[in-house]
Amino acid sequence: MSPLTIVGLGGSLARRSHSLAALRVALDGAANEGAATTLLDLRELDLPLYNPDDEREPPAAASQLIESCYAADGMLWSSPMYQGTISGAFKNALDWLHALGSREPPFLHDEVIGLISAAGGTQGLQAINTMEFAVRALRGWAVPYVIPVASAFRVFDADGQITDEAVELQLRTLGAEVVRVATRFVDHTTAQRARACEESAERVISAVA
Ligand SMILES: Cc1cc2nc3c(=O)[nH]c(=O)nc-3n(C[C@H](O)[C@H](O)[C@H](O)COP(=O)(O)O)c2cc1C
Repeated sequence: MSPLTIVGLGGSLARRSHSLAALRVALDGAANEGAATTLLDLRELDLPLYNPDDEREPPAAASQLIESCYAADGMLWSSPMYQGTISGAFKNALDWLHALGSREPPFLHDEVIGLISAAGGTQGLQAINTMEFAVRALRGWAVPYVIPVASAFRVFDADGQITDEAVELQLRTLGAEVVRVATRFVDHTTAQRARACEESAERVISAVA
């Protein structure tokens, strides 16, 4: 079986982003479980604001976001905590995924998503809860284990390296958990497809007998 693809989406527009640093650690945890990983760094993507009235083809960065997210078996989302919730930049990225509504299956159908936030204080769970609403709206499945990184400035050094072993373990565990659950979804889908093929073969045999 080819490796699962896990796409990490997040970070802030700041040059030194703790939410991005946290995302990198969780993606590494997913890679350690054999997943092929892709990082969508919001600062690098530099997405324009989503405008539903704009009927032109999405710009290259938005297309990369849309196609990478659609092709993923699972995702890791990591937002900074801004004013008690997710950042505008992170929400804007999610808004671009509206383009997936006309696909079949639509949006992030059956994708398994792990949630991370980085807060200056201790209220990171509010951003996670907001993300969970968006996971549902986009037809994904959030794993129950979530990582709200509190006092993020204490957890990473100036180079973005993680210095807190307990938080590192939590983030790696989340990456591994997304791979574990995404594997179950893939197995189930494969088994469903195999059953559908068997049933159709049986119908053909009984029709010619
Ligand atoms: C505009 C803004 C709003 C913020 N609001 C909150 C907040 O409501 N609660 C909190 O704990 N930290 C808040 N912070 C601190 C950030 O969550 C913290 O610096 C975090 O590390 C930012 O993510 P980043 O390092 O990826 O940029 C805020 C920071 C900014 C710039």
